[in-house]
Amino acid sequence: MLAAFDTECRDHCAWSAFLTVKSAATASLPDDVILSVEDLEVCFGARGTKVVPAVQGVSFQIKRGETVALVGESGSGKSVTAMTVMRLTEYDGARITGGRILMRLKDGGVADLTRLSEKRMEGLRGFEFSIVFQDPMSSLNPVFTVGDQIAEVITRHQGKSPREARDIALNVLKLVRVPDAALRLDQYPHQLSGGMRQRVMIAIALACRPSLMILDEPTTALDVTIQAQILDLVRALQREIGMSVLFITHDMGVVAEIADRVCVMLKGEIVESGSVNQILVDPRHRYTRALISAVPRLGSMADKDGPEKFPLVIYNAEVSQPEVSA
Ligand SMILES: Nc1ncnc2c1ncn2[C@@H]1O[C@H](COP(=O)(O)OP(=O)(O)OP(=O)(O)O)[C@@H](O)[C@H]1O
Ligand SMILES: [Mg+2]
Repeated sequence: MLAAFDTECRDHCAWSAFLTVKSAATASLPDDVILSVEDLEVCFGARGTKVVPAVQGVSFQIKRGETVALVGESGSGKSVTAMTVMRLTEYDGARITGGRILMRLKDGGVADLTRLSEKRMEGLRGFEFSIVFQDPMSSLNPVFTVGDQIAEVITRHQGKSPREARDIALNVLKLVRVPDAALRLDQYPHQLSGGMRQRVMIAIALACRPSLMILDEPTTALDVTIQAQILDLVRALQREIGMSVLFITHDMGVVAEIADRVCVMLKGEIVESGSVNQILVDPRHRYTRALISAVPRLGSMADKDGPEKFPLVIYNAEVSQPEVSA
């Protein structure tokens, strides 16, 4: 299954190489690095007005085949960072006011994404990198079949005929372990379960075999059993395909499951980063410690009548200890 998928993708790499030569990449990256975000600053608001950056001084790298988790409270700048890598925040009125985003492309060239035209970015999205959002129902188009939606990205980036695109779509649907894939191809999103829809989103993101997949809280809208299945799937796909992953979550439990390295965001900045072991075993920043302490321990609800809400982490830089309250 993977071999068939591989052959389909290989044709496209030659085409990509041709396109990338034209991008005149001037920056360089260490060989094993896929993405390097350097001192990124993003602001919302009209040009000339005083604005507070939503993201400021954000720097991190993702190596080939590595999973980096971006964690932090709501509003800390995780999605803005991810959407800026895709150069999609501009559609929400944001401006990149500082920094670079260097990406290694499939042909080996390096491009600074902050400097590329929108037309060039359109050619890269879905092909070099792709994103999966939290809510598959609002990301999928309800009036097109699953097969059409996967095939669309294949025809757009790989110039395949509808017949060929459909065959690749079937392969990729099998790759994300959708049962009865041939049948599902002709179904509409509302005919699928939540977990299956999220697999379809991952299939669309995978269809052109990007080097980097960004997943923005992909399991938050799913129940815990399905969450675990999606995490397993992402891990398995990474082993099979070797892609890099930027995984956004506010859940340190998920981080422990999936990440190689972790960047902790607070108020638009990265306050701590390190290997998953270092962050979980020996966190340096008080906010990271508070996030970890908010994860329920096995057995901690043994004497409780029912499940309890996750505690709220309230961080105040002026106060010596972050507050973790129910
Ligand atoms: N379209 C927008 N217009 C103005 N400000 C925005 C916009 N989108 C995000 N912001 C601001 O940017 C900051 C970072 O938001 P972001 O969505 O990245 O947070 P997040 O860490 O992804 O939070 P969550 O966990 O809730 O998804 C917030 O202060 C938010 O208010
Ligand atoms: Mg977000």
